Amino acid sequence: MYFIGIDLGTSATKLLLMDEKGVILNSKTREYPLLFPQPGWAEQNPADWWKAVMFGILQLTENVDKSQICGIGCGGQMHGLVALDENDAVIRPAILWNDGRTGEEVDYLNNVVGKDKLSALTANIAFAGFTAPKLLWMKKHEPENFARIRKIMLPKDYINYRLTGVHACDYSDASGMLLLDVEHKCWSKQMLEICGVTEAQMPRLFESYDVIGTLQDVVAGALGLPRGCKVVAGAGDNAAAAVGTGVVGEGGCNLSLGTSGTLFISSRKFSVDPNNALHAFAHADGGYHLMACMLSAASCNKWFCEEILHTDDYAAEQADIKREKLGRNHVFFLPYLMGERSPINDVNARGCFVGMTMDTTRADLTQAVLEGVAFAIRDSLEIARSLGIKIERSKLCGGGAKSPLWRTIFTNVLGIPLDMVKTEQGPGYGGAMLAMVGCGEFASVQAASDALVELASSTEPDAELTARYEERYQQFRKIYPTLKSFFQEVK
Ligand code: XUL
Repeated sequence: MYFIGIDLGTSATKLLLMDEKGVILNSKTREYPLLFPQPGWAEQNPADWWKAVMFGILQLTENVDKSQICGIGCGGQMHGLVALDENDAVIRPAILWNDGRTGEEVDYLNNVVGKDKLSALTANIAFAGFTAPKLLWMKKHEPENFARIRKIMLPKDYINYRLTGVHACDYSDASGMLLLDVEHKCWSKQMLEICGVTEAQMPRLFESYDVIGTLQDVVAGALGLPRGCKVVAGAGDNAAAAVGTGVVGEGGCNLSLGTSGTLFISSRKFSVDPNNALHAFAHADGGYHLMACMLSAASCNKWFCEEILHTDDYAAEQADIKREKLGRNHVFFLPYLMGERSPINDVNARGCFVGMTMDTTRADLTQAVLEGVAFAIRDSLEIARSLGIKIERSKLCGGGAKSPLWRTIFTNVLGIPLDMVKTEQGPGYGGAMLAMVGCGEFASVQAASDALVELASSTEPDAELTARYEERYQQFRKIYPTLKSFFQEVK
């Protein structure tokens, strides 16, 4: 029996085919454009995602016995607003998780509705990328589009809808809409009212491993897959990645270095950060998690290499950065290229290099970018530590985790060992595991994780480097508070 895992990402969709033992038989990546219609805005066309999924599945399954494919599970970029009209056609391009246009709506929600009320209703406060402020933005700036909305979907839910014809959403992804009562796992009537929408416009809620339906005839025909092939609700990409790295149940931690950077702490019990700096969301295993999300992580390195240095040879750029230089860089980088979510929640924050001199080299700047991202994640780790959460080690996944240098920087900046699992394809692997649970191969996500996830290697902190980085981190954390009012002034 085979299962398909889909990672509906921001730069590309990655698909994998897995057998019932968890062995990856094939994988494919299909890229698509990310649109920045204005500085700080980010959009994508859902039609591009759908094309990537359809062509991706065709390529993925080219040389296999398709009759053996029994389940599909998707982990998708979170929070994006996909608005469908009465014919289920997409009304406008999706407004993505890293879009910062909703500063005013976030202020309204957090300061007029009030953080306490939001937190009581949803376990979270408003952040620019969340779906609710986007609805308010659309209501104000595109009233004719807003009036046409019949269904409000998240990115992977749009794919699941096209596959099955069912409007569904899972609890982990729904948590990031600011419309879900996360603790009780139901839509918050009051939040829907605040945003001017009704429950009829929302998709039906499921656990991530629940089967929402089977392939529509026309899709099964086009892909040559069995009509009975099941589609599970799937999960937000971070919850799916955590499943894929075995971070399920109580107290596990996963650090994902993709376009965004996230620190994900799983828990069986529901809990809320009293300051709401960490998101309190449902997990794909049926439990809950706390999460911090920085908007630009591996994307900072991609931006610096590709847009500024005009190279895609990331390893060559890192080759000159040797151990003696680590923790001794005189240049700092603030990684806020799309504003920032966790922990500062500031859409006006911007990226910058600080501390350059005439002897600053290209390698120093590259190093500063890698270190700036690690320092910013450390800010979130400190928030978790301040809540008394003990994080003694973490899994590490995502494209950025492939760089041995970045792994060394991270382990020493955070001061904890970082473990890589054998199948580094977090969200796609997690998606396929959820499909296995939905198809009855495993009784629970925990059982799938116990059976399938294997450790590959660990990166351990080194006392000298950790001490050097501690000093640099204490300097780094002074930069944003110094520049905060400047960012506000020049916005
Ligand atoms: C999480 C978040 C990002 C996206 C990226 O809250 O916004 O990690 O899910 O895909």
